[in-house]
Amino acid sequence: MVTAFAPGKCILFGEHAVVYGQPAVAVSIDAGVEVTIRESNSWILEGMPFEPSRHPHISHIINDIFDYTGKPLKIDIKSGLFSAAGLGSSAALSNSMGAALHQLVNPDEPLDLISLARIGHSAEANAQKGRASPTDTATSALGGCVVVSGERVKGTQHVFDATLETPEGSRSWSICRASLPQVDDTWIVLGFTGIGSPTGRMVAGVAELIEREPQKMDDIRAIGEITSSGLDSLSEGDMESVGFAMNSCHEKLRNIGVSCPEIESLISAVENHSLGTKLTGAGGGGCMVSLTRHPRRVAECIEIAGGKPLVSKLGSGGARIL
Ligand code: MEV
Repeated sequence: MVTAFAPGKCILFGEHAVVYGQPAVAVSIDAGVEVTIRESNSWILEGMPFEPSRHPHISHIINDIFDYTGKPLKIDIKSGLFSAAGLGSSAALSNSMGAALHQLVNPDEPLDLISLARIGHSAEANAQKGRASPTDTATSALGGCVVVSGERVKGTQHVFDATLETPEGSRSWSICRASLPQVDDTWIVLGFTGIGSPTGRMVAGVAELIEREPQKMDDIRAIGEITSSGLDSLSEGDMESVGFAMNSCHEKLRNIGVSCPEIESLISAVENHSLGTKLTGAGGGGCMVSLTRHPRRVAECIEIAGGKPLVSKLGSGGARIL
């Protein structure tokens, strides 16, 4: 029996724009997904017969990545993340499944987090019709603060590069680590709207919008600039400016049509207690994030406004075998 864990992620800046090569900054969060696998007489997922077509991430890892021909597996999943909510639950699932299967198949080989991030990215791209940046999977695999960009970003430590053929052409990204400031009085509070929003659909929607209205690329470029200045503020530990950049990023995300009334209502409920607020992840539902020194107050406001809160420090550890 093997159990592996991979954390979820919160994008502080740059979602959607990163699909077009602009930088994104994400941190891993405390909550994540745990996968336990054990050999069995038949293929079972969560107590039910495993149907590969209903679980593209898991079946891609088993069949295409590992080419697994061993005994059938019983797979159990424990998730502390809201799903289809912008917290990288599918990336965390892919990474924990990849880590657990690696450990089962190669028990003497230590887990290589870069290979794991590549496995996770391949599973995400396969499930998202070829449109997935490596942001979610790299942040979940490596942990801490990860910067993903079309070009290497100064002040960060390069870890690996990733490429992908997308319906809009070939994309490549540089994946780097950024150090997080030693601040122990600032938290992120995620607020789930209760509306699941598949990333693939939101990313395709932005692609269609840009095709119809090419000037929307200005918003994509503006998100890239805000992300760079937000990252500088984060490195300096200037959390007020980080919050300010988050607010500006949200305005641009609104312009590309990925916010929704439920996100706006959670943001209004907490902005007085926050350094900054924005949607996080794909939008269209999913989660908003507040950067705050008053996490309990913000969590209460989210609940009162009808959302579900999740409090986390910025940048927990990455994927691991338990
Ligand atoms: C989803 O968490 C982030 C997006 O930028 C999609 C991606 O990067 O693949 C919306």
